[in-house]
Amino acid sequence: MTVEAFAADAAMGRFYTNPSIGDVLISSIRARPKRIIDLGSGGGALTLAALRKWSPTEIITVDIDERKRSRLDYSNSRRHVHVVADALDFDLPRLLPPGALFDAAICNPPYITPTWKPAFRAILEDAGLADAIDGSPLLGADVLFLAQNLRLTKIGGRVGLIVPDGVVTGRRLVGLRRRIMSDHCVESVVQLPRNCFKSTEAQAFIMVLAKQRPQASTISLRQLDNAGKLSEPVLVDADRAAERCDYAYHSATQSPAKQTFTLKDAKAAIVRGSMHSGEAKRSHHPYVHTSDLPTEGPRRLSFSKDHAISRGRKFALAEPGDILVARIGRNLHFKVAIVSTGRLPLTDSIFRIRVTRRWRKMVFMGLSSQQGAAALQAAARGVGARVLTKDDLMRIELLRS
Ligand SMILES: C[S@@+](CC[C@H](N)C(=O)[O-])C[C@H]1O[C@@H](n2cnc3c(N)ncnc32)[C@H](O)[C@@H]1O
Repeated sequence: MTVEAFAADAAMGRFYTNPSIGDVLISSIRARPKRIIDLGSGGGALTLAALRKWSPTEIITVDIDERKRSRLDYSNSRRHVHVVADALDFDLPRLLPPGALFDAAICNPPYITPTWKPAFRAILEDAGLADAIDGSPLLGADVLFLAQNLRLTKIGGRVGLIVPDGVVTGRRLVGLRRRIMSDHCVESVVQLPRNCFKSTEAQAFIMVLAKQRPQASTISLRQLDNAGKLSEPVLVDADRAAERCDYAYHSATQSPAKQTFTLKDAKAAIVRGSMHSGEAKRSHHPYVHTSDLPTEGPRRLSFSKDHAISRGRKFALAEPGDILVARIGRNLHFKVAIVSTGRLPLTDSIFRIRVTRRWRKMVFMGLSSQQGAAALQAAARGVGARVLTKDDLMRIELLRS
């Protein structure tokens, strides 16, 4: 592939599915669909995986990119019809060969946020998702492709998609998850290895749902490892799965170790630092930023200055006994420290945790342990630079020491 072609692909959010991931997606759909649609079919990875496992009577692929047509001829099948069209056209159903709604929709949507069009609202409304999405028209193509796939699928039909982290764990999309789980049946969610899409570190998932089937009491969450092995499922009830439905989080919180506690149990007071890092730099006064939190060794901080900025605003201060945890960053799960001496203002990239003396050692040991790091890592959200919310922190399960 040329550098130009690679750049164009990245700009169009084209991260192609490798065949083994396609096979896992198809195997996660417990049905033998006859009429199948693949929106954003690209080189046809998902269609080819479907043809390896199923014997459909008809498979329709759609891609906006003219050039994608020829590669799909590899399927060389009369059952296969390819349509060059915008999959996010409200009138897409009319552009497809006539026929009943589809038994299954398989899809790896582009990883982009398309410029908003009024047609998107109509698609979301028709799919019953419009009022489940909080206001912002800044929606990823993943949600719009999900909606379009729901429109095209018959009742009881399956939608199997590759979705990014936001759909599975993002707080902004909790309303969407609740709606999906109240109106449909989420059959499985598979957490894929990071880096499984060439040139992106994005965390992706396979999500399979059955349209308008009542939600089963539990949802099966699994993880695919780098060797292509699927984990045993963790079963989570729909309410908890609506909060977030990633395997890593629920498997860590359902730790077999009974001797666990949460910061809620410890009645922790968690405060986010209040000083923006730019503001901190400009102040020319000492402050604590994530770069000051050690990732190993003794995690005790001693500030030589006892400095409380009193002019103008009051800032959240780190004081002796406070436990500090990074809120943002690739390595946030290792950045835990306790303050021994001194007082300094905190930037807003740090959470300050205050607990009573009785809990202090156990909370600090729990958070700075290997298990604590794994739980923090699992609770953090987002791609690349990870972010932890106060709620996430309050709920993680830590081992008692
Ligand atoms: C992430 S790639 C997935 C390709 C293939 N399904 C796979 O899994 O390897 C997304 C594909 O969607 C196509 N695409 C992007 N926007 C589209 C749109 N609005 N309508 C139809 N196809 C689109 C791109 O050309 C690209 O082939």
